[in-house]
Amino acid sequence: MSITISLDQLTFQLEALEKEAAKEIAAAVDADALEKLRVGLLGKKGRLSGVLGAMGKLPGKDRPIVGQRANLLKNQLQELLSERLNNLKVIELNERIEREKLDVTAHSSGIPLGRRHPLITTTENIVDLFLGLGYQLSEGPEIETDHYNFAALNIPEDHPARDMQDTFYLDGNQLLRTHTSPVQIRYLEENSPPVRIVAPGRVYRRDAVDATHSPVFHQVEVLAIDEGLDFSHLRGTVMGFLKAFFGDLPVRFRASYFPFTEPSAEVDVQWRGRWLEVMGCGMVDPAVLEGLGLDPDRWTGFAAGLGVERFSMVRHEIDDIRRLYTSDFRFLDQF
Ligand code: DAH
Repeated sequence: MSITISLDQLTFQLEALEKEAAKEIAAAVDADALEKLRVGLLGKKGRLSGVLGAMGKLPGKDRPIVGQRANLLKNQLQELLSERLNNLKVIELNERIEREKLDVTAHSSGIPLGRRHPLITTTENIVDLFLGLGYQLSEGPEIETDHYNFAALNIPEDHPARDMQDTFYLDGNQLLRTHTSPVQIRYLEENSPPVRIVAPGRVYRRDAVDATHSPVFHQVEVLAIDEGLDFSHLRGTVMGFLKAFFGDLPVRFRASYFPFTEPSAEVDVQWRGRWLEVMGCGMVDPAVLEGLGLDPDRWTGFAAGLGVERFSMVRHEIDDIRRLYTSDFRFLDQF
């Protein structure tokens, strides 16, 4: 005895499936759940197929009716599934926008800005003032030879100036330059006068560290060679420069001695009631010019070596040179 099924029964099953599926689709929480539902409903072994499997037990005339309804239901469920998927996407997007919302009015805790070190800005200020006078920027190596650091500057082997400058000697004939004056020689070897150069750089001496000494410090070398330069040009240049840098600090020239200048002077500025030396200077010694093949009867010139730390300390009211070499942000933040 064959079991038959009526059109009404199948129609009822399809309607029940439609209602259940609609509920389940509406309740699906994400794309994965929807996909499982789709397979469970419309897949080969899905619930719709299950209903249609019973179609063979219908009387032949009723089969197309059920087939048509089943097709309609299939389309309907597909539409519900894709609608729900779109909804879920919109919901997810909205949630993400909400989650990732930037509050542009939020108070910023701030990213601390880096600053330029006072020794850098002081060096630049000094150099800029000379560039403004038409001087050319020049530089030389920190590892030097005896020739450039001493001999060519008229400092012979047994000269007491070599004791004055306690030197870091390296292997071979090399040393760490004790001043920026060797740049004078290097520049004049490559360039014929008239010359005007300003040459900043790091220098080294075997000094013990204290409030005013450091084994590594900075100088700016100045050199002018031309026809007819005399001490008044040196003095005028130095005074004009100091006034531009410091304003109206009292200045004095003190007679001094350097092997590479004649006459020589040291320049002091008055700071906190005391005279503080800020540079050495003088008229380039004829022996230095002769050593470079220049005729000292035609070419004369002046030179100066400025102590950058001193300029920085006076300008910024820094009482201890060591502050310039320790990276203490409480100190550096002031500049
Ligand atoms: N080189 C000297 C030093 O470091 C400073 C100096 C003095 C430089 C006189 C000069 C100068 O150019 O003319 O002690």
